[in-house]
Amino acid sequence: MIATESVIQDTKAAAADKSLISPRFYVTDYKKMNALRFDHMADAFKAMHKRFADDPNKHFFKRDDDPDFDQDFSKLPASFKEFLIRGCLGEFSGALLYKEIAERIEDPILSDTYRLMARDEGRHSGFIRLAMRDISADLDLQLLQGEKEFVSMHPKIILYTTYLSEVIGYFRYINIYSHLQAHPEHRYHPIFKYFGGWCQDELKHGDFIGLQLEAQKNLYLDGGVNRLLIRFFSLAVYVTMWLRDLKAQDFYASIGMNWREYDLKVIRETNAYAQRVFGLRLDVDHPQFIQILDRMAERYTKMTEREASGAGKLALAPMKAAMGVDYLRLFMMKVRKDAPPPIPDYPVAPIIKGCSVKHGAEPAMA
Ligand SMILES: [Fe+2]
Ligand SMILES: [Fe+2]
Repeated sequence: MIATESVIQDTKAAAADKSLISPRFYVTDYKKMNALRFDHMADAFKAMHKRFADDPNKHFFKRDDDPDFDQDFSKLPASFKEFLIRGCLGEFSGALLYKEIAERIEDPILSDTYRLMARDEGRHSGFIRLAMRDISADLDLQLLQGEKEFVSMHPKIILYTTYLSEVIGYFRYINIYSHLQAHPEHRYHPIFKYFGGWCQDELKHGDFIGLQLEAQKNLYLDGGVNRLLIRFFSLAVYVTMWLRDLKAQDFYASIGMNWREYDLKVIRETNAYAQRVFGLRLDVDHPQFIQILDRMAERYTKMTEREASGAGKLALAPMKAAMGVDYLRLFMMKVRKDAPPPIPDYPVAPIIKGCSVKHGAEPAMA
């Protein structure tokens, strides 16, 4: 039995969290979105819609046939709950945004693809909530929707950031999955087994949003200003994840992972994958890039420690400014356009009892 009081508390804390690293809820300008043309790539969007409608994960997110869920989960590390809350917020945020776009966008094929994408994210957040209930936790999604502030962004920025979030989501899930396949002794909850099939949804989402960017090549990808924006928002996505995972390092340690190595790998792979749409990549393997990221992590740790010990905004301002300078230094670094480093051929889907998903047939990266 989950105490309602604690669910309300967790939900209100998640809604009120406006820190740099907290997941946001987004809306966009639908008039501007409807002014975009997609019909010149109608065949590609129809094929993409089919990929969503085929829905190979239709029966995937079902726990009934999996006896691994019938266990006592009362002694799992506290960091696991935080991991689930963050995951649920991210998935639910996607479900809300995509549902709203599906209702407002005029192109019927895109609208229905967004609807199916919202369906996927709804499934993901629902599956995480079931795991939360295993550890006597939950979020009140209706309350969350009512209390959380929504941020409005230009469709171009929405497409850049959701594209990267989906692709990074794929690499985050597949890397945890692969690690725990190799080290099952750290897999203390069966939800991790599902990340292998789950991440295929995220890659599909990323490819759909990438296709929309390609359809707006002149408007959204070409030209100096767009390239600067792409660099800025790519960095924003990487740095946010970096600081978020720094703070969540206990969770990664609990599953036998080093958060820093994991993040560098995920950033490297996302960066290489996104180059096919963006036409450039940040030089994330440059020693200076990693050095500055490490310095930001140090500064952020100090800043949050001082914040926790009651330091006011004024006392924290120099540290925030120093992090801003670090960010600017990363932003100013030269980008690369040569061939990206290879991405591992991850297996496509996991073997899970009761699931009809095919596995191991083709590499994830075409
Ligand atoms: Fe998702
Ligand atoms: Fe997604």
